[in-house]
Amino acid sequence: MSVTEPAAKRFTKAAWTSKWLWWASLNACIAAYFTYGLVAPASNIKTAWLPGKTTHGHHQIEMDCDACHAPSQGNAPPSASDVMQDACIRCHGDQLKAANDTHPASKFNDPTNADRLAALDAQNCLTCHQEHVPDRTLNMGLTLPADYCWHCHQEVAENRPSHAGMAYDSCATAGCHNYHDNRALYEKFLDDHFGEPDLLPDAKLPLRDTVAALSVAKWQAEPLQVGDADAPEDIVVSPELVGDWAETAHAAAGVNCTGCHGGQAEAAAWSDKLSVADCETCHEQQVDSFQTGKHGMRIAAGLPPMTPSLALLPMHAGTAHESLDCNACHPGHRFDTEFAAVDACLRCHADSHSLAYRDTTHASLWEEEVSGSGERGTGVSCATCHLPRLEGNRGVWVNHDQNASLRPSETMAREVCMNCHGLDFALNALADPLGKTTCYGNTPERRVESVQMAHDWFTQRQSKRRTKADQ
Ligand code: HEC
Ligand code: HEC
Ligand code: HEC
Ligand code: HEC
Ligand code: HEC
Ligand code: HEC
Ligand code: HEC
Ligand code: HEC
Ligand code: HEC
Ligand code: HEC
Repeated sequence: MSVTEPAAKRFTKAAWTSKWLWWASLNACIAAYFTYGLVAPASNIKTAWLPGKTTHGHHQIEMDCDACHAPSQGNAPPSASDVMQDACIRCHGDQLKAANDTHPASKFNDPTNADRLAALDAQNCLTCHQEHVPDRTLNMGLTLPADYCWHCHQEVAENRPSHAGMAYDSCATAGCHNYHDNRALYEKFLDDHFGEPDLLPDAKLPLRDTVAALSVAKWQAEPLQVGDADAPEDIVVSPELVGDWAETAHAAAGVNCTGCHGGQAEAAAWSDKLSVADCETCHEQQVDSFQTGKHGMRIAAGLPPMTPSLALLPMHAGTAHESLDCNACHPGHRFDTEFAAVDACLRCHADSHSLAYRDTTHASLWEEEVSGSGERGTGVSCATCHLPRLEGNRGVWVNHDQNASLRPSETMAREVCMNCHGLDFALNALADPLGKTTCYGNTPERRVESVQMAHDWFTQRQSKRRTKADQ
C-alpha cells in the first residue's frame, strides 16, 4: 500500500485515454441495453401490463413481476390467477410467525371454523391484500372494507358489555386490535402494565453488544494502528483514509483492510467496490434485517439499490441518486454510529415528520447524550425508534429493518417506547393524530382505553370468581 494524496487533478495522456474508454463503454452499454430490451423480458415492457399502481409497500419491487406472479406461464403477461400465495409467505412468513400472528392460516384448519371461512377465506392472503387497485387500498395494503372483523366476531358485543355499541370499523383503530400482530395489545400484557407512570424511573435504552452479536462465533483480535494496515502494495490511499480507519471500532477490534476488501494470500483478490455481502461475513443479522425493509428490499430482490429519486416519500434533491446500501448511513472508513443515527437520515428524508425531529424533547436528550452531558442510552435519535436495539440470543443488536417497528406502530411501543415510558402513555402517544407530524414532540391529547378496559375486565372476572368461591 502506498499512502499519497489523491492524484485527481493531474491532466495526463492517461486521463485522456481513460475518457475515451469511458465514452466507448458508455456507448456499448446503451447498445447492450436496447438489445437486451428486444430479446429479454425487460422489466420496463412488463410495467406496461400493470393494471394499476402497486401498493406503497411493494412499489419498489413492482418491476419484478415474477416476485409474486408465477413465471411458469411462458410468455403470457402476469394475471390475477398466477399470483403465488407461496411468494407472500416466503417474504413475510417468518415476520408474521415472529409477531405471534393472531390469525394465522393454521387457526382456520379447525373444522369448527368452516362457517367463518365460508364468509371470508382467511387462509388466503389475497382475500385481504390484493394488488394494483389503488382506489380500494387502505393503510397497510388492506383491500377489504375496514369493518370486515364483523364476519367472524359478531358475538363480541354480547359477550363483552364493554364493547356494546362499538362500530366494527373501529376494532382495528390505533391502540385497540390488529389483525396479525397483537404483541403489545394482548389483554394480559395490557393489564400487566396497568398504572405505569408516563416516564419510567430508569428511562434508558440497553447498550449495544456488537462483538457478541457478530456472526463470527468467537471474536478474538488485537487492536491495530496506522502502521499495521495490510492493504497490498499497489493500493494507493490517502492518509485520511488510513487515519479514519485507525480511529474506528474496526481497527480497535482488529479488523484490517483485507478483512473487508480481500486480498490476503488465501482469500479473494482485493476489491475497491464492496457489497452488502462483504459486511455479511461478520454482520449477518444487520444485513439480513436491512434487506427485509424499505431501505434494502430492492437489493434483496436482485434489483439495483433503492435511491431517493425512486421514493414516494418526500426526499432532499441533493441525494436523489445516492444508492441505499450500508455506506448510505455508514460512509467512508469511519462507520460512525452517531452520524448514522440522525445526520445520515436527514441528508435524505424531507417529510414533515423527519423535519420536526430537531425541535423535540427527544432530540435534546440525544444532543445531551452525544455531547457527553447526558448518560449513554438516554437520548432518542431517529434510529432509536426506527432501528431499534433488540435483545437477541447473542446480545443486544440493531434491527436494520426500519419497517419492522412501523407496521403496525404498536410494535414500536413494545420494542422502543417501553424502555422509557409506561405502556398507556406510549399507546396514547402513538395513536395521537398530531404525533406523526410533530415527531412525538407534543403531549398526547387522546386517550386509548385499551389498558383501562383490560384492567377492568380482569378485575371484574376476579371479583366474580371471589363471589362464586364465597357462595
Ligand atoms: C408484490 C407482489 C406483486 C408484484 C411485484 C406484481 N403483482 Fe400483479 N398482482 C399481485 C396481486 C396480489 C394481484 C391480485 C390477485 C387477485 O386478485 O387474486 C395481482 C394482479 C395482477 C393482474 C390482474 C389484475 C386483474 O384485475 O385481473 C395483472 C394484469 C398484474 N397483476 C400484472 C402485474 C405486472 C405486469 C407486474 C410487473 C410489472 C406485477 N403484476 C407485479 C401481486 C403482484
Ligand atoms: C420479494 C418479497 C416480497 C413478496 C413476494 C411480497 N412482499 Fe409484501 N412486502 C415486502 C417488503 C420488503 C415490504 C415493505 C416492508 C414492510 O412494510 O414490512 C412489504 C410490505 C407488505 C405489506 C405492508 C404494505 C404497506 O403498504 O404498508 C403487506 C400488507 C404485504 N407486504 C403483503 C404481501 C402479500 C399479501 C404478498 C403476496 C401477494 C406479498 N406481500 C408479497 C416484501 C415482499
Ligand atoms: C382477513 C384479512 C387478512 C388476511 C387473510 C391477511 N391479512 Fe395481512 N393484514 C390484514 C390487516 C387488516 C392488516 C393491517 C395491520 C393489522 O391489522 O395487523 C394486515 C397487515 C399485513 C402486513 C403488514 C403488517 C404486519 O403485521 O406485518 C403484512 C406483511 C401482511 N398483512 C401479510 C399477510 C400475509 C402474508 C397474509 C397471508 C398469509 C395475510 N397478510 C393475510 C388483513 C389480512
Ligand atoms: C375469518 C374469520 C376472522 C376474521 C375476519 C377476524 N377474526 Fe379474530 N379470530 C378468529 C378466530 C377463529 C379466532 C380464534 C378464537 C375464536 O375462536 O374466537 C380469533 C381470535 C381473535 C382474538 C383473540 C386472539 C387471542 O389469541 O387472544 C381477537 C382479539 C380477534 N380475533 C380480533 C379480531 C379483529 C380485531 C378482527 C378484524 C381486524 C378479526 N379478529 C377478524 C377469526 C377471525
Ligand atoms: C469495515 C470494512 C472496511 C475496512 C476495514 C476497510 N475498508 Fe476500505 N472501503 C470500505 C467500503 C465500504 C468502501 C466503499 C466501497 C464502495 O464505495 O463501494 C471502501 C473503499 C475503499 C477504497 C476505494 C476508494 C476510496 O478511497 O473510498 C480504498 C482504496 C480502500 N477502501 C482502502 C482501504 C484500506 C487501505 C484499508 C485499511 C487501512 C481499508 N480500506 C479498510 C470498507 C472497509
Ligand atoms: C472481518 C469482520 C468484519 C467485517 C467484514 C465488517 N465488520 Fe463491522 N465490525 C466488526 C467488529 C469486530 C466490530 C465491533 C467493534 C466493537 O464494537 O468493538 C464491528 C463494528 C461495526 C460497526 C459499529 C461501529 C461502532 O462504532 O460501534 C459498524 C457500523 C460496522 N461494523 C459496519 C460494517 C460495515 C458497513 C461493513 C461492510 C462494509 C463491516 N462492518 C464489515 C467486524 C467486521
Ligand atoms: C438507515 C441507516 C443505516 C443503514 C442503511 C445501515 N445502518 Fe448500520 N447502523 C445504523 C445506526 C443508526 C446504527 C447505530 C444504532 C444504535 O446505536 O442503536 C447502526 C449500527 C450498526 C452496527 C453496530 C450495531 C450492531 O447491530 O451490532 C453494525 C454492525 C451495522 N450498523 C452494520 C450495517 C451494515 C452491515 C449495513 C448494510 C447492510 C448497515 N449497517 C446499514 C444505521 C444504518
Ligand atoms: C440515501 C438516502 C436515505 C438515507 C440515508 C436514509 N433513508 Fe430512509 N428511506 C430512503 C428511501 C429512498 C426510502 C423508501 C421510500 C419509499 O419507498 O417511498 C426510505 C424509507 C424509510 C422508512 C420507511 C417509510 C415507510 O413509509 O415505509 C423509514 C422509517 C426510514 N426510511 C427511516 C430512516 C432513518 C431513521 C434513517 C437514518 C437512520 C434513514 N431512513 C436513512 C432513503 C434514505
Ligand atoms: C419517538 C419515535 C420516533 C422518532 C424519534 C422518529 N420517528 Fe419517524 N416515525 C415514528 C412513527 C411512530 C412513525 C409512524 C407514524 C404513523 O404512520 O402513524 C414514523 C414514521 C416515519 C416515516 C414515514 C413517514 C411517512 O410519511 O409515512 C419516516 C420516513 C420516518 N419516520 C423517518 C424518521 C426520521 C428521519 C427521524 C429522525 C429525523 C425520525 N423518523 C424520528 C417514530 C419516530
Ligand atoms: C431513551 C428513553 C426514551 C424512549 C426510548 C422514548 N422516549 Fe419519549 N420521552 C423521553 C423523555 C425523558 C421525555 C421527556 C419527559 C418529560 O419531560 O417529562 C420524553 C417525552 C415524550 C413525549 C412528550 C413530548 C414533549 O416534548 O413533551 C412524547 C409524546 C413521547 N416521549 C413519546 C414517545 C414515544 C411514542 C416513544 C416510542 C416510539 C418514545 N417516546 C420513546 C424518553 C424516551
